[in-house]
Amino acid sequence: MKRRSKVLTARTLVLDAERRFKRAGLHYGHGTDNARDEAVFLVFHALEIPFDCRPDRLDQALTPAQCAGVEDLVKARLARRCPAAYLTHRMWFAGHEFYVDERVLIPRSPLAELLQARFAPWYYGPAIQRILDIGTGSGCIGIAAALAYPEANVDATDISVAALAVAARNVATYALESRLHLHHADLFPIVDSAGAYDLILANPPYVPDAERAALPAEYLHEPALALFAAEEGLALIRRIFKGAAARMAPAGILVFDAGGTWPAVEAAFPSLEVIWVDLVNGGDGIGVITQSALAQFALQ
Ligand SMILES: C[S@@+](CC[C@H](N)C(=O)[O-])C[C@H]1O[C@@H](n2cnc3c(N)ncnc32)[C@H](O)[C@@H]1O
Repeated sequence: MKRRSKVLTARTLVLDAERRFKRAGLHYGHGTDNARDEAVFLVFHALEIPFDCRPDRLDQALTPAQCAGVEDLVKARLARRCPAAYLTHRMWFAGHEFYVDERVLIPRSPLAELLQARFAPWYYGPAIQRILDIGTGSGCIGIAAALAYPEANVDATDISVAALAVAARNVATYALESRLHLHHADLFPIVDSAGAYDLILANPPYVPDAERAALPAEYLHEPALALFAAEEGLALIRRIFKGAAARMAPAGILVFDAGGTWPAVEAAFPSLEVIWVDLVNGGDGIGVITQSALAQFALQ
């Protein structure tokens, strides 16, 4: 008797990928936090299925070419421990989609939550006109800020020329070239911007160098320049604290992501008034500091 071959569908491929991801003990931390979601992300991408598709779409028989496309992605995820976003070149941040590749960090800062709330209740100054995004990477924070504030101009810096090329691609996708200016610079743009910024946003590298060896392999696909900082993760944060006040408007605020390094920030800068935000969507390490608090700190 002839055995009937199993019909392969999106649903069966998701379940198969999930099982293999679990067996391989992959790490999730780049947009998903479990094997099922990671499998859905890759399978739907390969098959060009929208996330809000009708359920019966998942049970349609697939062609051998479609199955092969999914298998290529699943194998790459398993064999190279490559984060899914680098395989699909897509990631969402603050509700917007961005192109990503291994030249930039995969967007995931919980700072997105504050952006989507337009920094309420933290910013209460005059209408926001100028914004600085320090360490822009893919451009996600600067672009999301430009979209949240259609009247504002945004400067975005990065020390990595490679990252700026990715940011430029995303800026062009959102047609923001007239309002968002990319600068190859060490933290702050070289142009004179004394007293200019209503908002300074920063997701700087803050992982202590010493933690590199203990990180799951997935993180080692990201640029080291985007992750690691000397002085137990504080080197760039310290320089941002010192340099920000002079470039901020009197009602301005600095909003920064210190991730898991936030207790070290507290310990290293006890006299600096940092508000650590309670995040509804989870995550921690998002700090807000007023211009006046930073100005006092810069004088010390
Ligand atoms: C944690 S990543 C953040 C990327 C992006 N803003 C995001 O949230 O996904 C830090 C970024 O800062 C950049 N960077 C590192 N040192 C820098 C410096 N001294 N000046 C400007 N940018 C720097 C890195 O190249 C990287 O793109």
